[in-house]
Amino acid sequence: MSSNQYLTLNNGRKMPIIGIGTWQAADKEVENAIDVALEAGYRHIDTAARYGNEHAIGRVLKRWLDAGKVKREELFIVTKLPPSANSPRDVDPIIKKSLADLQLDYVDMFLIHTPFSVVTNEDGSIKRDKDGLMIPDLTTNHAATWAEMEKLVAKGLAKSIGVSNFDKEQVGRLLKNCKIRPANNQIEHHVYLQQRDLVDFCKAEGIAITAYSPLGSRGIAKFNASFGMVRELPDLIDIPEVKAIAAAHGKTPAQVLLRWIIDTGCIAIPKSTNPGRLKENLNVFDFKLTQEEVAKLMALDKNFRVCDFTFFHGAEVHPEFRFKNQYTN
Ligand SMILES: NC(=O)c1ccc[n+]([C@@H]2O[C@H](COP(=O)([O-])OP(=O)(O)OC[C@H]3O[C@@H](n4cnc5c(N)ncnc54)[C@H](OP(=O)(O)O)[C@@H]3O)[C@@H](O)[C@H]2O)c1
Repeated sequence: MSSNQYLTLNNGRKMPIIGIGTWQAADKEVENAIDVALEAGYRHIDTAARYGNEHAIGRVLKRWLDAGKVKREELFIVTKLPPSANSPRDVDPIIKKSLADLQLDYVDMFLIHTPFSVVTNEDGSIKRDKDGLMIPDLTTNHAATWAEMEKLVAKGLAKSIGVSNFDKEQVGRLLKNCKIRPANNQIEHHVYLQQRDLVDFCKAEGIAITAYSPLGSRGIAKFNASFGMVRELPDLIDIPEVKAIAAAHGKTPAQVLLRWIIDTGCIAIPKSTNPGRLKENLNVFDFKLTQEEVAKLMALDKNFRVCDFTFFHGAEVHPEFRFKNQYTN
């Protein structure tokens, strides 16, 4: 099994095409998962200040780096500027806090987590109105925040910079107002939400696509329920076409979902804290889908967004909040 397969970014840097996602993973769980993942061959880790577990990931990275089991330049660490802090003045202190938690001198990729932002209290926690709703921060200015992101590259704190959850119009607007072009757009991308328009546009502009929730965010129902949201969600590993292709290759449905992302030129960051499943998710380099199989999976698109950011209730009215506007289900 080899994890050393990369996509070359628009700045010449190489990004491993499978990474491990870490959202909704508590400290102990994520610490164990990263240990197992590094042992299995993962070198790309996706995290975010918002996930609250960077310090746990940092502990594992330090152990591995100090022991000489991995070299810093072999790792590809991604983190993000949170939706509660994406104004220009936040950029420098936020990355420095993430770097301190991760116990690193630089990250390989720093992303603007969401195009919208919400207002915070003085202690940095998210402010809510009397009805418990988040308050949109209407001062959001992507170009101004991006200019600060560009300074991080000059300072050596981030090797590459990019965006996440930006739609086509938002990416296009940023491209007109940047010195460094974004290297990456991390978006929800799986067989039921393919966002072809956006993916093709980004690729044509030299922006790599990272597919988040590549397995349909199988844990999100539990997360939604924790704040009273009940929504019926499809299970992508149960789709008959996916299962049939998996059987034809002697692979699992999850491996087919990931291979489709790779075979269509994108990067995938499946999350697992289960040792067996996280190894399974990396074991996708010994087969390839046929053109016919890729086409069959392309035909499954339903514009079905799983991660619709309803957990940022109140932010929907922000003009840069595009999740509902662009895709409805
Ligand atoms: N930029 C953004 O706004 C954004 C938004 C969402 C996610 N992300 C990133 O993308 C990562 C992945 O997305 P996600 O966590 O939403 O969803 P996902 O990777 O599509 O699905 C993860 C879920 O599937 C399960 N799973 C993992 N491998 C499996 C397999 N081989 N077979 C069956 N089930 C499997 C996991 O459970 P176990 O852990 O028990 O295996 C977990 O419940 C996140 O962790 C995060 O790093 C970014």
